[in-house]
Amino acid sequence: MGDRLNTIFGWVLFSGVVALGLTSISSRIFHADKPESPENPGFLIVANEDGGEADAGPSLATLLATGDAAKGEAVFAKCMACHTIAQGGADGIGPNLYGVLGKPIGQHEPGFAYSSALSDHGGDWTYENVDHWLTSPRAFADGTKMSFAGLSSAEDRANIMLYMLANGGGPELPTPEAEPLPEGDEAATEGEVEAEEATAEKDGEAEEVATEEPV
Ligand code: HEC
Repeated sequence: MGDRLNTIFGWVLFSGVVALGLTSISSRIFHADKPESPENPGFLIVANEDGGEADAGPSLATLLATGDAAKGEAVFAKCMACHTIAQGGADGIGPNLYGVLGKPIGQHEPGFAYSSALSDHGGDWTYENVDHWLTSPRAFADGTKMSFAGLSSAEDRANIMLYMLANGGGPELPTPEAEPLPEGDEAATEGEVEAEEATAEKDGEAEEVATEEPV
């Protein structure tokens, strides 16, 4: 009996030692990998900034139609470390922004030393382009000197554009679509179709401006 107990205790002890050994070996293996894996956790956030967030909310045209320049002025406080917006205001770290809406990208202040990322970008400051720019300057013009992370709120971006519009003007505001039109919707009655066509015609001009953006 005593012998048997000893044998059992022996095995229990032995397997304990083996388990301990395995644990320490495996933990060493996993620790060896550790310093390499979590090096760039920030990229996930960048991906989210670029992601489809904008698709979820109201369209840019709607935000511009319902926005508020006074709220934009408050948000513009974030820009004032680098920008003036008054007519004839001085260039600072960034160029003066009076009347920049609708102007060619990166050319508006001839005396300002733009980065080539911006001055060679091409296109004009349409509402859509400014919206992308303010979402993430670096995503819009990789290598830009505007070291500003971006405004994640679509409302803030629209309101700031209305404030810019009030300071030097800009292109006509895009007309918000009443409803997304289903393509080739045969079920629509004639009256509805006519109304849709009328809206489409009215939208034509504003949409031309909005779709100029080079991609
Ligand atoms: C840290 C300084 C800084 C901040 C903060 C900043 N900007 Fe800029 N901004 C710049 C610089 C520098 C440039 C020129 C970028 C280049 O040449 O690449 C620029 C360029 C621009 C341009 C393009 C001007 C042109 O003539 O084409 C716009 C529009 C603009 N900024 C708007 C804003 C708005 C709106 C904000 C606030 C939400 C803001 N910026 C915040 C530094 C800043």
